[in-house]
Amino acid sequence: MHRLVGLHARVEAEHGVAMPEIDLGGGYGIAYTSQHTPLPPDVLADAMADIVEREFKAIGDGDNSRVPRVSVEPGRAIVGPSTFTLYEVGTVKRVELGGGHARTYVAVDGGMSDNARPALYEADYSCTLANRRSSAEPVLARVVGRHCESGDIVVLDEYLPGDVRPGDLVAVPGTGAYCRSLSSQYNHTPRPPVVAVRGGESRVIVRRETIDDLLALDVADA
Ligand SMILES: Cc1ncc(COP(=O)(O)O)c(C=O)c1O
Repeated sequence: MHRLVGLHARVEAEHGVAMPEIDLGGGYGIAYTSQHTPLPPDVLADAMADIVEREFKAIGDGDNSRVPRVSVEPGRAIVGPSTFTLYEVGTVKRVELGGGHARTYVAVDGGMSDNARPALYEADYSCTLANRRSSAEPVLARVVGRHCESGDIVVLDEYLPGDVRPGDLVAVPGTGAYCRSLSSQYNHTPRPPVVAVRGGESRVIVRRETIDDLLALDVADA
């Protein structure tokens, strides 16, 4: 913020133009897990407006007319919470960690190809069993992908019902931002579809990739 205000002041000093707007960009957090507590938009907006007003008044010796309009570019904060990823469980394996502790590895039919963020920089996600209710005792679980890589993790630590089994569906919320856009065909894995759901109705808005899609760039007569 300080740098931006300094930039505005420099432009004014060098060119005699007071820019009417300050763009604070994006970067507003969302709750990927219950541990994350992002500020509500109104609280954030008030705080940013206060800071901008204070900073510009300070460089203008209290002159109110110098305070620019504030604009923002929220990306993740809008689309992130709108979407969850639904995986199907392939295998379940309990691994003893020593000291009486264990972790249940739940392997799903996706992973770092549809969500690169945990593998890239250990982004934290949560998950829940989505296809049925279970009253089984929760177990510490790690949801891992299908790509045979040690970093291919979907959810590092989460409690899932102890009877989680192949064929179950696991939902990972908060995947609307920087998942599809960072997705890949890692190990030649076709990407899943994107389905919009509203009022009990669903519609495919991005279709599932096919083997033909994977081979689409091959030059047949090369
Ligand atoms: C210029 C600019 N504005 C806005 C955004 C959105 O950021 P976020 O999704 O963290 O709100 C980005 C993301 O890279 C950006 O580069």
